[in-house]
Amino acid sequence: MAGSGGLSLRTLTGSGWVRGSCPAVLSRLKNAAVVRPGFLSKAEEETLSCELEPELRRRRYEYDHWDAAIHGFRETEKSRWSEASRNILQRVQSAAFGPGQTLLSPVHVLDLEPRGYIKPHVDSVKFCGATIAGLSLLSPSVMRLVHTQEPEQWLELLLEPGSLYILRGAARYDFSHEILRDEESFFGERRIPRGRRISVICRSLPEGTEPGQPPRAC
Ligand code: OGA
Ligand code: MN
Repeated sequence: MAGSGGLSLRTLTGSGWVRGSCPAVLSRLKNAAVVRPGFLSKAEEETLSCELEPELRRRRYEYDHWDAAIHGFRETEKSRWSEASRNILQRVQSAAFGPGQTLLSPVHVLDLEPRGYIKPHVDSVKFCGATIAGLSLLSPSVMRLVHTQEPEQWLELLLEPGSLYILRGAARYDFSHEILRDEESFFGERRIPRGRRISVICRSLPEGTEPGQPPRAC
């Protein structure tokens, strides 16, 4: 189609990090589901994982509940960070959140073991506002977004170590998100073998919630 003005393959199927069910979904969610590969330098990845490792190691992986959204994980809510990590989190805040958005504090840290995965869910609107931003460490993974009303509309995000993803607006409210288990971990045709993955997740507060206050009941 060169020279004909036709759509490029990239426009049809997405970028190297975002794939979608159709060009309309991709274009509608262009600013709502964003992946920034290489957001962290290797040194920054190291900084975060070295700081998190001792805190995570103290906890056990959980498998318990058959109906739980997350399997094979351990997690922590972290509010005290080294200066180097605070600088990284500040960069996340500037990249992902608007000046009017207040962030939920502490930051959520989730450690998925190689067999661990996250089932499709929409983050509770009681605890989380319009924007979710996550850094991925250690292992690549695939995040799938599926429209809650029209499941034929979907996106796949390839989350390499050091990448930042941002879900906001429609991508956060109208689509479920999940992290695929190893057996299902494909980005299109491409197999993405899963290892242990740590994510550092920043969320905005629901509108009308004061920082430092417990989230409103319902
Ligand atoms: C969650 C979640 C995604 C991630 O904890 O609600 O969707 O990147 N986590 O770990
Ligand atoms: Mn979630």
